[in-house]
Amino acid sequence: MLYRKPVTGGVRRIMQTIHECKHRCPMNAIELARSLPKAELHIHIEGSLEPELIFALAERNGVPLPYADVETLRAAYAFTDLQSFLDIYYAGASVLLQEADFYDMAWAYFKRAQADHVVHAELFFDPQTHTARGVSMATVIQGLSRACADAQTRLGISASLILCFLRHLSEEDAMATLEAALPYREHFIGVGLDSSEVGHPPSKFSRVFARCRELGLRLVAHAGEEGPPAYIWEALNDLQVERIDHGVRCLEDPALVAELARRRVPLTVCPLSNLKLCVVNDLKQHPMKRLLDSGLCATVNSDDPAYFGGYMNANFTQTVQALNLSADDVIALARNSFEASFVSEPRRAELMAALDRAVAAA
Ligand code: HPA
Ligand code: ZN
Repeated sequence: MLYRKPVTGGVRRIMQTIHECKHRCPMNAIELARSLPKAELHIHIEGSLEPELIFALAERNGVPLPYADVETLRAAYAFTDLQSFLDIYYAGASVLLQEADFYDMAWAYFKRAQADHVVHAELFFDPQTHTARGVSMATVIQGLSRACADAQTRLGISASLILCFLRHLSEEDAMATLEAALPYREHFIGVGLDSSEVGHPPSKFSRVFARCRELGLRLVAHAGEEGPPAYIWEALNDLQVERIDHGVRCLEDPALVAELARRRVPLTVCPLSNLKLCVVNDLKQHPMKRLLDSGLCATVNSDDPAYFGGYMNANFTQTVQALNLSADDVIALARNSFEASFVSEPRRAELMAALDRAVAAA
């Protein structure tokens, strides 16, 4: 593709430059980011609850909300850090009471994911947020699981669930949550660790993750979003996770970057989340390009899209634009998402082949 680049140094002319894409795709990188098939690996399904759905479910369930209307609620989405977001996020989730609520929330997400060419999704859910309010584990898991099954049959999106422990609660609470979820073991593929990071290091959950490992569950953990690189080391060494959620602060520790690159531990990065939670001040300063250039298996994800200003493609295209990512970077990010996913090997081959076809056709 040809684009026009102004030449500096007083030369008043426009020079045409060949796009650097090795694949000679005629699309620009932003259009390519929008159109390629991709996997989403870091989405808290409770963070996909749009204000309109919060109000609809509040009415359906007779739950009072401390906001007059959708606009007032949306206006409250001005966050200064992770905790300021979590307070509103947990309040929003209070409208979820029945199995149909969990189904409707996840189904709304899958329809948006399909529009963004997400072909595989691994959904985080926070059972403790619901069981603490008297909602049963069965209600939560069955509603979400039914939506995942329908995503496969009706939208062609393969989907699975990852149960997250809330790290501001105790390890005993996490262990009890795991035991309560075990009757539904076939409905989730792994466990993660989320909520308030600083002051709640991964090592606090070493025993429950060891038990999950024995059970054959896949392991991930949020680390290095607001917490220091030491938390990423703990997630790797104490919890033995296979992926790091966020992980952007790894760049402060060159030995850690080298270890993540050597072991090819994926990072599920969420650019708009980092912007909205003030992890970065401007998307132009986002570390995504540095992560890729350091040889890391970084991926793009939306985290809590209803709260942070956009779903997968908003994250992808705004990051490409802000950092001037190349078409090759975009293709690497899409490829990384399939490499990092917990799909079966035949499904991974299918996803990679679909990506190759889309690149060839672009
Ligand atoms: N970080 C930690 N916990 C979370 C997040 C996040 O970005 N979103 C929902 N729970
Ligand atoms: Zn997250």
